[in-house]
Amino acid sequence: MAAVIRAVKTKITQSPSLAARYILHGETVAFPTETVYGLGANVFNEAAVRRIFEAKGRPPDNPLIVHIPSIHLLEQVAKDIPPLAATLIDKFFPGPLTVILPKSDRVPSIVTAGLKTVGVRMPKNPVALQFLRACGVPVAAPSANLSGNPSPTTWQAVRADLDGRIGCILKADPTQVGLESTVVDCTGPWPVVLRAGAVTLEQLRELIQETEVSSPGEADASAPKSPGMKYRHYSPKAKVILCTYPQYTMGVGNSAYIGLIPPAHTDSFTRVLLCQDIDEYARSLYQYFRECDDEGVETIYCQSVREEGLGMALMDRLNRAAHK
Ligand code: TXA
Ligand code: MG
Repeated sequence: MAAVIRAVKTKITQSPSLAARYILHGETVAFPTETVYGLGANVFNEAAVRRIFEAKGRPPDNPLIVHIPSIHLLEQVAKDIPPLAATLIDKFFPGPLTVILPKSDRVPSIVTAGLKTVGVRMPKNPVALQFLRACGVPVAAPSANLSGNPSPTTWQAVRADLDGRIGCILKADPTQVGLESTVVDCTGPWPVVLRAGAVTLEQLRELIQETEVSSPGEADASAPKSPGMKYRHYSPKAKVILCTYPQYTMGVGNSAYIGLIPPAHTDSFTRVLLCQDIDEYARSLYQYFRECDDEGVETIYCQSVREEGLGMALMDRLNRAAHK
């Protein structure tokens, strides 16, 4: 974990307009979106953006996503919007989709970690939109966790990681999706999914049939298209073990289970969370990881799901957590 650069008193508020004033004063603000909580700063204020990296202990070569409340702000951060990007934006903004576009010269290179491209997203969470409208400037924001921890899906998880390191937390409900946005590179001849999310591959292909998925090899290469994917992510401190057949899975030691169907011996687990469907599984996963860590659970058994629909994003995160 990076050293605390500045100890600050973190304001906790439910007022989007008050939180926006922190942004306009060059501070960092954690705010809800429908995916996970983000840690934002005015995209045009380099010093404020630097504070995001410091507060999270984030490597400087991992670019940030820029958040906008309306399409009118797009031209401030991106240029030469490719037609295929316009198609995706028309269909999925606002929503859990990030498009990678050619960067406008106005965006400082610290935001994009020196890349000539920028990731842009318009969240659909109403509190996020109120906050971003009140800011009036595009807001650069990664997930509001310490680097390496699971993304926060509640304001309390943000406080646990970042209290005293950021200016303000905009307190609202837990996030609805629970996994980060789908990231799609739109700078080539067809869309390439760099990170799976709640906008599914099936939905993307329905719109643009040629949509591809970047192979893991590409994402891990020394010059990956999505630099963030090479970092350890989404992991609890506990060891994560994936199980395809929970009906044969038994807990060993201080262990927990999360999945759709019950494990063999429920009594052998310290905690068990049964989810009704994939949506609930995705929504609950990171919070469950955090609760297990708080309780000193050593091993978390997670049921594998089919890699279709939201299951693709869920399996991506589970695989990363299991192979850290
Ligand atoms: O749902 C989300 O996307 C959340 C909320 C807060 O919007 N944000 C989020 O940000 O998950 P972060 O920083 O944790 O993940 C951003 C991902 C990283 O993998 C990063 O490398 C990739 O997006 N990314 C950002 N800009 C990029 C660019 N110009 N080219 C390629 N990948 C980029
Ligand atoms: Mg993140």
